[in-house]
Amino acid sequence: MEERKGFGSNFGFLMAAIGSAVGLGNIWGFPFKMGISGGFTFLVIYLVLAALCGFIVMVGELALGRKTGKGAVAAYQVLSKKFKWVGWLGIVSAFLIMSFYCALGGYCIKYVVLNFGNLFHAGFGSNGLDGNGIFGALMTNQVESVIYGLIFVVITLLIVMGGVGGGIEKFCTIGMPALFFMLIVVIIRAVTLPGAVEGLKFMFVPGYAVTAGIVEKAPSFMNVLSTAGGQMFFSLSLGMGAMITYGSYLDKKQNLEKNAIIIVIADTMIALMAGLAVLPAAFALGGEGASMAGPKLLFVTLQNVFDNMGGVGPIFGIIFYLLVVLAAVSSSISLLEVIVTHFVDKSESEGKGDQRKKYSLIASVLVAFLCALVCVDGLGSNGIWVPFQSLVGVRGFNDCWLDFFDMISEGVLMPLGALLMCLMIGWEIGPKVVKDEIEGPEGHKMTAYGFFNVCVKVVTPLLMLLILWGQIQSFFF
Ligand code: PFF
Repeated sequence: MEERKGFGSNFGFLMAAIGSAVGLGNIWGFPFKMGISGGFTFLVIYLVLAALCGFIVMVGELALGRKTGKGAVAAYQVLSKKFKWVGWLGIVSAFLIMSFYCALGGYCIKYVVLNFGNLFHAGFGSNGLDGNGIFGALMTNQVESVIYGLIFVVITLLIVMGGVGGGIEKFCTIGMPALFFMLIVVIIRAVTLPGAVEGLKFMFVPGYAVTAGIVEKAPSFMNVLSTAGGQMFFSLSLGMGAMITYGSYLDKKQNLEKNAIIIVIADTMIALMAGLAVLPAAFALGGEGASMAGPKLLFVTLQNVFDNMGGVGPIFGIIFYLLVVLAAVSSSISLLEVIVTHFVDKSESEGKGDQRKKYSLIASVLVAFLCALVCVDGLGSNGIWVPFQSLVGVRGFNDCWLDFFDMISEGVLMPLGALLMCLMIGWEIGPKVVKDEIEGPEGHKMTAYGFFNVCVKVVTPLLMLLILWGQIQSFFF
């Protein structure tokens, strides 16, 4: 059997893993959730959870992947009798998340084009429409949104076809530093706008969202805990095999524990930076009653911000939406890779050769169908039937396919996957398996073993149960 080709360097691995973590969740999820859930207090709770759950699950996933040298499905099959089916949850999550990720990524490409149109006063610019008008027109133009969604799927496909070292690593090694640089440029512009300080207060000052009348009342502690926990899992790409997959391509010599810490810190830092780029601008130039979260923040409020910035607006618009495209692509390639690695490994082990191109194509065709469904639905604008109609209007669930897919993947499957992984490591195969993998041939010492041991057995599963319960409650009750 041919040797499995992986990441060429630790830096390449880190850029890919951070690229997977940094995505739409950092840009439109974290800043607003932080603002409405207690500002600085939320940040402290988030950081505690990142240490007690995020770091633990990250180390666990990377170690399972590297130890087995297999993707999510096979890793569980090799290691466990009771949990051998868990990897499949990851494959299902990957398809579901990709369905809306590619649709939203496609919209971002459309906004890059639109801002180019505005820069050159061309016909494909805003054409006198405001943010609401532009987004409304895109949502009801099903052909246009499907085309943009499919362009995004094709970009993802081409990178994944290039392989882990040749496609994913190359893209992320250039894309992530570029994203970071562009983010700094946007932050400098945003925080120096008159009125920007309101956005900073909203994000950091506890209780400011209530005082300013943005939300009616402060959320309960349980509510904050589950919001922070759910956000953290999605943001760190945990609980669905992405880090198992990337870990399986990492060289045995590299220090997994250190890498896990770097990924968690970098993702949190970029989420905070995204808040600094987005909220001050949205408060300063977003207009009365502007939406501060979700698709409307990105595609309505921020477009209004760029339109209100004067001559340089389109330039900042291009930089901003391009950086969001980079963040989204570097996440969606890791989602597709979860699926592709599984089938490539399977075909290798059956002696049928690599077949990466074939499986990337088949998986992408399926993703393209799901993505087209989300686009045709246009966030519920076009009256398409959606399952669970009885839940419509309940917190977190609107009458649209995007929310439906999100509810199952982010709401249930990801926290469940992470919980099951901890139970397997803690109680079936034992945490020493992870320690041995980390200490490996290079003799790196696992400094946090005592902490890992207690957390993976008891603390993390208990917190995971709370988070899962909170998530299910917020979606279903
Ligand atoms: N971490 C990504 C975000 O914050 O947007 C979402 C994501 C990407 C989740 C990749 C899971 C994954 F495997």
